[in-house]
Amino acid sequence: MRTSSLFEQAQEFLQQYYSESNLSGVEKRLDQVQVEILQTGTYRLTEKELSFGAKLAWRNSNRCMGRLFWKTLKVRDRRSLSSAEEVFADAMAHLKSATHGGKIRSTLSVYATADEGGSGFRILNKQLIRFAGYSLPNGEILGDPDSVSFTRYCTSLGWEGKKTAFDLLPLVIQREGEHAQWFGIPEEQVLRVNLFHPEYSWFQELNLQWYAVPVISDMRLEIGGISFPCAPFNGWYMLTEIAARNLGDEQRYNLLPVLAKKMKLDTRQVKTLWKDKAMLVLQEAVLHSFQSQGVTLVDHHTASEQFLEFCKQEEAKGRSVQADWAWIVPPAAGSTLGVFHKDWENQILSPNFYYQPAAWKEDEAPKTPSFAAGKCPFSGN
Ligand code: ARG
Repeated sequence: MRTSSLFEQAQEFLQQYYSESNLSGVEKRLDQVQVEILQTGTYRLTEKELSFGAKLAWRNSNRCMGRLFWKTLKVRDRRSLSSAEEVFADAMAHLKSATHGGKIRSTLSVYATADEGGSGFRILNKQLIRFAGYSLPNGEILGDPDSVSFTRYCTSLGWEGKKTAFDLLPLVIQREGEHAQWFGIPEEQVLRVNLFHPEYSWFQELNLQWYAVPVISDMRLEIGGISFPCAPFNGWYMLTEIAARNLGDEQRYNLLPVLAKKMKLDTRQVKTLWKDKAMLVLQEAVLHSFQSQGVTLVDHHTASEQFLEFCKQEEAKGRSVQADWAWIVPPAAGSTLGVFHKDWENQILSPNFYYQPAAWKEDEAPKTPSFAAGKCPFSGN
């Protein structure tokens, strides 16, 4: 397979940017980029190009159901920050601005990449905010089971958790070629939502909570052939992400049996539908708690309508929507949602967000830093 050269990728992106934004002068810009690539092996996106590219990366995220709002993404160009301390302080500023007292704003921050000379950063956490998970001597897990190995890694760096079910993990930042550094996230930076149910007072006694803002921090943003391995971004939650998956999955907080017991449901046989009943109560609780505490969250029915509106708008612009059905259709309410009955092509368009090897996992870390892998900018080899 022939991979396209850096210049070709730049060309494709810049032509799309100029044409969608009704700008003239793309030829001149391309000449500049060509010279820059010849002289330095790479090129630098302007702040406006970066901002538009990040929005397109969201629009092209086949697994994201919230794409109707792609144009509203707030992009923070922080490529000039040069120490892990600065990146940490800025990530906290991202959180504050994105949280916005509960009226969550979709936000993306871009930090230095090795492509442009100097060294790039990586945030090793999956998200800026996530809860720790501890394997207890009795075989049980305290906290989020999905965080157990990362929590162990943080502990190996010298961090110590409080050992509650909802401990904030530290932020771990690594500058290329240097040791990872951890930073404790101050409690006041994090908006948490305590969960209660509008009818069942026992629910509150479970002492459940979730955080308000999901900020994905381990994906690589790619625009016009340039990679940004450190570009954390957030939207707001959809109900089922928390209520069905994070709190409901057996391999996560696994709360359905706990709720079923409180609800006095017969859990001896699956056909009593105890899981379905408990799941609904969990959903009601998460929805009401976020609403009453003034924190943005979208239910899956509304999200489905919004996604179909996005499809309509895209088609009106002459673009065909690319989407991954298995990710778009929420994990609850199946066929009652409009998106269940649709089908999409699932091609990966550029710009986009990509998974990248977890830099803290021995077996995933590249032997030679991926940043430095000498790629010819013209042949792509
Ligand atoms: N599913 C992830 C979680 O539950 C968050 C993924 C991003 N979600 C979003 N609504 N932007 O933490």
